[in-house]
Amino acid sequence: MKVNGKHYKTVWMKGNFVYLIEQNLLPFQFKVFKSKTYKETCHAIKTMIVRGAGAIGATAGFAMAQGLLEAPKKGFWRYAQKAKIEIEATRPTAQNLFFAVNRVFNSAKSSKDPVKAGIDEAQRIAKEDEESCKTIGKLGNELIKDGFSIETHCNAGWLAFVDYGTALSPIYAAKRAGKKVFVYVDETRPRGQGARLTAWELQNENIPHAILPDNAGAHIMSLGKVDLIIVGADRIAANGDTANKIGTLEKAICAKEYGIPFYVTAPTSTFDLNCTKGEDIIIEERSEEEVLYQTGLLPNKKRERILVCSPYSHAINPAFDVTPAKYITGIITEKGIVKPMKEAIKKLFSK
Ligand code: MRU
Repeated sequence: MKVNGKHYKTVWMKGNFVYLIEQNLLPFQFKVFKSKTYKETCHAIKTMIVRGAGAIGATAGFAMAQGLLEAPKKGFWRYAQKAKIEIEATRPTAQNLFFAVNRVFNSAKSSKDPVKAGIDEAQRIAKEDEESCKTIGKLGNELIKDGFSIETHCNAGWLAFVDYGTALSPIYAAKRAGKKVFVYVDETRPRGQGARLTAWELQNENIPHAILPDNAGAHIMSLGKVDLIIVGADRIAANGDTANKIGTLEKAICAKEYGIPFYVTAPTSTFDLNCTKGEDIIIEERSEEEVLYQTGLLPNKKRERILVCSPYSHAINPAFDVTPAKYITGIITEKGIVKPMKEAIKKLFSK
C-alpha cells in the first residue's frame, strides 16, 4: 500500500526490531513504531498500535522470534516458553496470533539452530499472509460487478494484514480492473476502525466511499442501496461460524432479510478447526474507556481525548461477535471460495 507515494507494509522485522505502522494515530498522523523487545511488541498488540487478525498474527510471529533472539543460552527454552505464553495472552480472539506463535515456536523447537529457524518461519508467515490476501483480492473481484455498492464493517484492509487486506482486497482489485465501485464504510464504534482506518485507506486509493453510522446499515440495505457485503474474520470455527468485529452479526442478519450476499474473507490461517462451533470462540472484552471516550483532532491540529457519554455511567465493550454460518453466503480464502459448511471447510484443508 502506498502512503504519500511510498510503499509500506503494516508490519515487518529487520534485525532484532519489529516495525509497525502506529494505527492509534491514524488517520491524523502517520508514524512507524519500532519495537526492540518481545515485551514491547506484546504491548503494541495489547494497546492496538497494531491490530487486525493478519497483522496481529505476523506481529505475534515476530514477537516470538524476538523472544528467541533474547533468550539466554542457559534456560533458553524456559525463557522462550514464557515469551510464548505472554504473547498469547495479549489478545484472545484472533486465531492468526496463535497460528503464528505456534508455528514459530515449533519450527524453533525442531531445529538445531532455533533462533534462525524461528526468524525464518516468522518471515515466511508474513510473506504468506501478504500472498494470501493478494489471491483473496483476485477471487473476490469476480463477485464484484461494475457499478456495485459494497458495504464493509471494521477494517479488514491492508492495515489489518501485512499488505492488501482481505475484505478490501477484492475492492482494490475491482478498482484496478477498471470497475466503478462505491463503498459504504461502517464507522465501527467504539474504536472507529471503519471511520478512521478503512476510510483513510480508501481515500488513499481514490475509491469513492461514505462513512455510515453503525446504526444506519439496516436502513441503507432496506432502500436497496447495497449490492454486496464483504467483511473480514478474526476466527472461523470448523462449521463456518465466524467471529468478527462487534456489529458484524447485525449486518449479516439484515443482509439475509434483504437478500444481499454476505461474504466473509479470510486466509486459511484464520480457521480454527479445533473449535467446532461459534459459541466456543472466546470474545475479547475491552476497557469501558473505549466506549466512554473518543480521541479526535482539534481545529488547532492537537489530538484530544474527550468524554462523550454521561459522566459516571459505565459501559460494556465486547470487541467481537459471532455470525452463525447460516447468514454467510460464502467464505473467500486464498484456496478458493467455500460455503460455510463443515464438509466444505474440511475439504479446503485437504487441498
Ligand atoms: O480489534 P481489531 O481492530 O484488531 O479487530 C480485528 C478486525 O480488524 C476486524 O474484526 C476485522 O474485520 C477482521 S480482521 C482483519
